[in-house]
This record gives sequence, C-alpha cells and structure tokens, in this order.
Amino acid sequence: MKVFLDTAELTEIERAAEAGLIDGITTNPSLMASAAGEGSPVEHFARICQLVDGPISAEVVATDAEGMVEEGTRLAGLHDNIVVKVPLTEDGLRACRRLSGNGIPVNVTLCFSANQAMLAAKAGATYISPFVGRLDDVGQNGMEVVAQIREIYDEYGVETQILAASLRHPRHVLQAMLIGADCATLPPKVLYQLLKHPLTDQGLERFLADWKTLGQEL
Ligand code: G3P
Repeated sequence: MKVFLDTAELTEIERAAEAGLIDGITTNPSLMASAAGEGSPVEHFARICQLVDGPISAEVVATDAEGMVEEGTRLAGLHDNIVVKVPLTEDGLRACRRLSGNGIPVNVTLCFSANQAMLAAKAGATYISPFVGRLDDVGQNGMEVVAQIREIYDEYGVETQILAASLRHPRHVLQAMLIGADCATLPPKVLYQLLKHPLTDQGLERFLADWKTLGQEL
C-alpha cells in the first residue's frame, strides 16, 4: 500500500521523506491555508515537489468545470508528479474527464459513498478519496464505504486507486490495509503513531543498559 502524508507543512514533508516513510503527498485548501501563509500557493506546491519524488495532490478551488480544468492544467504544468484534486461534484467529474483525457492524473476528493466512487471511476479518476473519519464523525461507518468501493472496483475490474483519506488513528490505517485500499493518506501525527510501540522503547533501553555493562566501545 502506498502511504501519503496529508499535509502541506514543508518541515513535516522533509522529515518523513528523508526517513523514506512516504510515497507522496496529499493537500487540500485547508491544509494549504495553514501552511502556505502569505506566500504564493503555486510556489508552495513547487517546493513540495522538490522534497518528495512521488504523487503530489494539489486541489483546485474553482467550482465550475471550466475553471477547474484551467486551474488543474496550470497546476499540472508545475511538475510531472502533480495530481490534480477535484471535488466529487458534477462539475468536478466533468473536469476529471477532461483533465484525465489530457493525460493529467486526477484525485477525486470528498467521496462519501460507493456510488459516488463508481461515478468518479467512470469519469477517469486515477484516485478516489473516501473520507473515513468524516463519515465516522456523523455516526456512519467510514471504513465500510472503503470496503464497498474495494468490492465494486474488483468486481468490475476498475483501475481507479482507492486512497483512504481522513484517517484519524492507527486502527483506521490497519483496517484500510486489510481491506486492500491502494493508498492511505495520513496526517503526520498518525504516521508517527504507527512507528511507536512501548515495547520497542523498553527493549532498546534494556539492550543499551546491558551493553553498557561490557564497558566497551563498538
Ligand atoms: O485527505 C483528506 C483529509 O485531509 C481530511 O481529513 O481529518 O480533515 O477529515 P480530516
């Protein structure tokens, strides 16, 4: 499974990329608003592309298909790794069809049902992003939607990749992997939660204490 970092914070991106923990980046307008500050968003995307060699999802903010295609085409021109992110609206799917027809990979975001995911696939989406945590927030089972999409895509041989998004804790990540999501995007906090285990820390402490009794350098 591909692991993407769901952030636009350059220090977080650099940290995870240098450790080899991530395959790409996803952003959204909210993440860009908190990370890009006063600077140009386009330059910020370009900087992200310098830090990670993998798919970088950059979201449009126009709401009409024409505007989305125009913004998406400009974003895609920044770097070969840019994936244009469009919302799952009728205009978003029109834009998806046109952008993907022009060879630009598209991530269709704000997906909350398997029926929506089927339509995004028809429109030529490279990735579909079901928002697990936000469905859980309203009392539904977000992971069930991921499982339904997996079943439907497999049944009909759909190549669109499932990108599990809005993942809030390590259990979400584990469930997404077991269901067979192609990718998961994680906020930095969740990425480092996956890494940590108290027994690892205790074990290392013990090894180092035992080594010290040798009184030797390595
Ligand atoms: O990738 C989508 C993600 O950023 C949404 O996460 O936690 O705001 O629902 P969240």
